[in-house]
This record gives sequence, structure tokens and C-alpha cells, in this order.
Amino acid sequence: MATLGLIGSGNIGSTLARLAVNAGLDVVLSNSRGPQTLADLVAELGPHARAATPAEAAEAGDWVVVTVPLKNYLQIPAAPLTGRTVLDTNNYYPERDSRIPSLDAQQSTSSELLQRHLAGSEVVKAFNNIYFGHLTALARPAGAADRTALPIAGDDPAAKDRARTLLDALGFDAVDAGSLAEGWRFQPDTPAYGLPYLAEPGLPFNEDPGSPADAAAIRAALDAAKRPSAL
Ligand SMILES: NC(=O)c1ccc[n+]([C@@H]2O[C@H](COP(=O)([O-])OP(=O)(O)OC[C@H]3O[C@@H](n4cnc5c(N)ncnc54)[C@H](OP(=O)(O)O)[C@@H]3O)[C@@H](O)[C@H]2O)c1
Repeated sequence: MATLGLIGSGNIGSTLARLAVNAGLDVVLSNSRGPQTLADLVAELGPHARAATPAEAAEAGDWVVVTVPLKNYLQIPAAPLTGRTVLDTNNYYPERDSRIPSLDAQQSTSSELLQRHLAGSEVVKAFNNIYFGHLTALARPAGAADRTALPIAGDDPAAKDRARTLLDALGFDAVDAGSLAEGWRFQPDTPAYGLPYLAEPGLPFNEDPGSPADAAAIRAALDAAKRPSAL
């Protein structure tokens, strides 16, 4: 059975773990405080889930999702991720992550920073533009008429294909937004960031039930993106 490794098991990590177990995948969860702190989540997920260290989750995963606050990306273990497809959900929030000059100056995107740190891995930006509650609400089987699409970006076509396979298993179509340098098109403050999946724009995200958005809607949102001015 294929395995999803998770570095970070908070809102997004635990949601992806639930979707993965429902899809028949094994999951290996990790966080910063140690496997023992994930016992309740592992018990909830059942026999296809276990908790480990970040390095063990990295080694176990056919795909590995990095889903930690961006400020901690340099703590992600690079060696055990060598040769692996890494899905990056991280977003830059200066109030949480402190100022990162190369992002403020738009010399880089957050996924390019992670790719630079994980030089031996193939990073694909994914799952960063959707509120975690909407991931749960909008997952659908392949072929469903109301399937939702998520954008992906990456520099390696084969890794993007592998990411697409994972998204499909978890319940989503994928829209290719281009290279990691194009990842800004679905970063915070763009039309593709969170908004396409809202049922009632104006409601707080945690009160909004979610609304499916197909590939055409996501493509239009990506095309409409305008890069905000550099700070
Ligand atoms: N929340 C959303 O709806 C959403 C949607 C899209 C993208 N994102 C982005 O995805 C990322 C994760 O968001 P989240 O809401 O899931 O965050 P979260 O609930 O705060 O969870 C963060 C997880 O990362 C772990 N972590 C922190 N530093 C780590 C390290 N050095 N090594 C291993 N694990 C570490 C934390 O473990 P400990 O608790 O043990 O420290 C925790 O399990 C963020 O960049 C966020 O902006 C969030």
C-alpha cells in the first residue's frame, strides 16, 4: 500500500491524513513535539496510521507533505527527503513567520525557498490555497460531477504527475499553474487563494460550508492574479 508521510500534523496535516486513510493509504504523521503527542490522532485514524519523527515520516512516504508554519521550513530534514516528491502547503504570513526579505522583495516564492532547502527533492506546491475545513467538505470521488480542483506548481513534470495522482486519490482534480516561480499566483491575497471554495463570500472561513470549484474556475482565478507590489 502507498504511504503518505506528513511533516506537520495540525489543521492541514491532520485533514490530509484523514482523507488519505479514507482513500486507503497508509499515513505516517509527525510534528515538532514528538510522536507521543499524536497518540489521539493516530487512534482516531486507525490501523493505517502511525506517528514518527519528521525524518521517519520523510523516509516512509511515497509522497511527503510539508505543512508547518513557514518560519520553520529550515528545520525540515533534507537528507531523508532526497529523491522524494514533497508537497508544500506553506504560506507566508509575516505576522506569524516574521519578515523574509526575499519574499517581500518578490525575488522568490515560498515554495522556491523550500525547494532550495530541499535541493535533493522535487517540491510541488499544493493544498496551500484552500481552508482546511473546505478540504474535508469538498473531497469527492473521481468522476463526480461536482469535483473540486486545486492548483499545483512545480519545476519537475514527473513530480507534478505524482502530485496529481495523490490529489486524485484524496478527492481532487489538479490544475497546473506552472513552475514554482509561478506559485505566487495562488499565494495569499490572490483570487485563487481560498475564495473559489467559498459558498457565501463574507462569511468567516470557519463558518462557510464550502462550495465546489472546477478546473475552469481555478484556471480563471490563476489567470486573473496580479502580483502585489514588492515591499
Ligand atoms: N489552516 C489552513 O486552513 C491552511 C490552509 C492552507 C495552507 N495552510 C498553511 O499550511 C501550513 C500549516 O498550517 P496549519 O494550519 O496546518 O498549521 P498548524 O495547525 O499550526 O500545524 C502546524 C503543524 O506543524 C508542526 N510543526 C511545526 N514546526 C515543525 C517542525 N520544525 N518540524 C515538524 N513539525 C513541525 C506542528 O507541530 P507541533 O504542534 O508539535 O509544533 C503542527 O503539527 C502553514 O504554512 C499554513 O499557512 C494552512
